[in-house]
Amino acid sequence: MFVTLEGPEGSGKTSQGEALAATLSKRIPLVLTREPGGTEFGERVRDTLLSFGAPPLDPLTQLLLLSAARAQHVREVLRPALADQRNVLCIRYSDSSRAYQGGGDGLPEASVEAAIAIATDGLEPDLTILLDLDPIEGLRRRASAGTEGAQEGWNRFDARELAFHERVRTAYLQLARKWPERVVTVNAARPFDIVRAEILEIVLSRLAVDTTGGTP
Ligand code: TMP
Repeated sequence: MFVTLEGPEGSGKTSQGEALAATLSKRIPLVLTREPGGTEFGERVRDTLLSFGAPPLDPLTQLLLLSAARAQHVREVLRPALADQRNVLCIRYSDSSRAYQGGGDGLPEASVEAAIAIATDGLEPDLTILLDLDPIEGLRRRASAGTEGAQEGWNRFDARELAFHERVRTAYLQLARKWPERVVTVNAARPFDIVRAEILEIVLSRLAVDTTGGTP
């Protein structure tokens, strides 16, 4: 099964992803990975996109860079793991491009979908957990060192204006309405352990459906 974790800044994707992976990997073969990243090339793209020292990039250039990193990730990591009957938990994937480059930056949906189609060659997640959080709270968490979500420091996307983050959240919620079977929204404003338990329950019930071919 291919599961993705999505959500705005500071929603706890990394810490929740690591907690979920620690629990799941005791029961099933699991690969934990992320975007941008997951391959050596992807991590370099991540540095370029997120660091303040890198040159300013047009939104289309960002979409194409992220897509190049995704193409490598799909071919080097995701497809081989799934072909090998392993499960994949990926922190951010195509929905991030829809929410950030489409919703946040306003690139045309047709461009974003074309880039996703080329990069993924049709590989869509079976399940997406959307950690939903008010951007003001998310950015507060990101800015305050030592709290969840602040692990990697303040980056170039965090520093975008509040309206950008509001558009990203709105776009994510629209994706959840568009694909209610695939995208499950979880309220990430609640305490970490409550959110963790809810995510685990959702994933386990989906895994049961997946392995029995229908009935949980
Ligand atoms: P994060 O992993 O700390 O959340 O940082 C990754 C940043 O990259 C985040 O601000 C969202 C951004 N991003 C996009 O804008 N589009 C994408 O397709 C992906 C995967 C990430």
